[in-house]
Amino acid sequence: MQFFITCTPGVESVLKKEIERIGGTDLVVSDRGILCSGPESLMAELNVWIRTGNRVYLVLVEKKTRTFDELFDTISAVDWRKYIPKDAPIIVDAVSVKSELESIPAIQKTIKKAIVTKITGDRESILREDDKVSGIHIFALIRENILLLLLDTSGEPLHKRGYRTEALEAPIKETLAAALVMLSGWRYKEPFLDPFCGSGTIAIEAAMIARNIAPGIDRHFAGEYFPWYNVDYFTQAKTQAKAKIITDRKYTITASDTDAEAVKIAENNAKRARVSDTIQFSRKDFKEYTSEYISGALVSNPPYGIRLKDYDLDLLYKDISVVFTKNTSLFGGIITSYDFGKHTRPDLWKNRKLYNGNELCYFYSKKFEKKV
Ligand SMILES: C[S@@+](CC[C@H](N)C(=O)[O-])C[C@H]1O[C@@H](n2cnc3c(N)ncnc32)[C@H](O)[C@@H]1O
Repeated sequence: MQFFITCTPGVESVLKKEIERIGGTDLVVSDRGILCSGPESLMAELNVWIRTGNRVYLVLVEKKTRTFDELFDTISAVDWRKYIPKDAPIIVDAVSVKSELESIPAIQKTIKKAIVTKITGDRESILREDDKVSGIHIFALIRENILLLLLDTSGEPLHKRGYRTEALEAPIKETLAAALVMLSGWRYKEPFLDPFCGSGTIAIEAAMIARNIAPGIDRHFAGEYFPWYNVDYFTQAKTQAKAKIITDRKYTITASDTDAEAVKIAENNAKRARVSDTIQFSRKDFKEYTSEYISGALVSNPPYGIRLKDYDLDLLYKDISVVFTKNTSLFGGIITSYDFGKHTRPDLWKNRKLYNGNELCYFYSKKFEKKV
């Protein structure tokens, strides 16, 4: 089987490593995701284990498609009676990039018509379309006239691990938080700190990585309900994941925030993720770190875009730079849309373009010092 795992631009390198570790082969990295191959069981393993991707799709067709007639014929050639149970609602999404087939509504309509005709002869009535009901989700990605016809096997996107039922405004996505932890180079031995923890996502993802807790261990996936797929693969993947949880690794994770409500929410989220015993939460203003000695990894998502009441935004970012400079062994970085570059030396810092939701951000990270 072939799978396509979508991701937010900028995290492809960590997602690639994850897929390889899980067992995917023949990887092809593109700007919207990664193609890989593997046995049927890989569908369940990718869903249960991927921390940084958005969704796992099964590739139904990969074919050059330039006209609507070709699109109709290509879709009609798929065995839809296998993939779409009787009366299941279907949702068709499409994206077209640098291709002759441009109109998204027309692409969606053609795909739906071909599916309906194939399944019902012409009786459109048995297929409903309803975004609120979870149904069979088809995604057509057309790039440079190559159609990738995809079947969503995740259902809810992978960032929905299940633990974050409480959050403050604009929390970072769990998938992006996990990617930042991986990009930071933290290897559990050193302390880990998020001093602007909000609802605790980065610290919780760090703890889940350290404990090797699979992100999908506590949730369900669309693939579990496919009549043609052996649900035992999901059961096995989750059972094996439970057996792989590491309980005796020693590490220190600290998370703090100036907002008492945020700290409470973060603690509750950590409890639901079953990592609350491994994270020290506290209420603390970042200013306090400027007069302390800290080491290890600092990975954080400081406030940006809004003016702070009693702590000027420029001053806060200057302080972040001071904390990293003063504590020479401190590594990691921050994700922000604020121009942190004006406080850092380009020879000591690198920045990676990322998207936090739809917002363009940079992950500013301290370069590792070369060992001599
Ligand atoms: C962008 S949010 C972090 C969101 C977080 N990553 C999450 O997933 O929910 C920034 C956080 O910084 C906190 N904050 C603002 N000023 C602070 C300061 N001076 N010291 C510590 N925390 C501060 C805010 O209370 C807010 O929770």
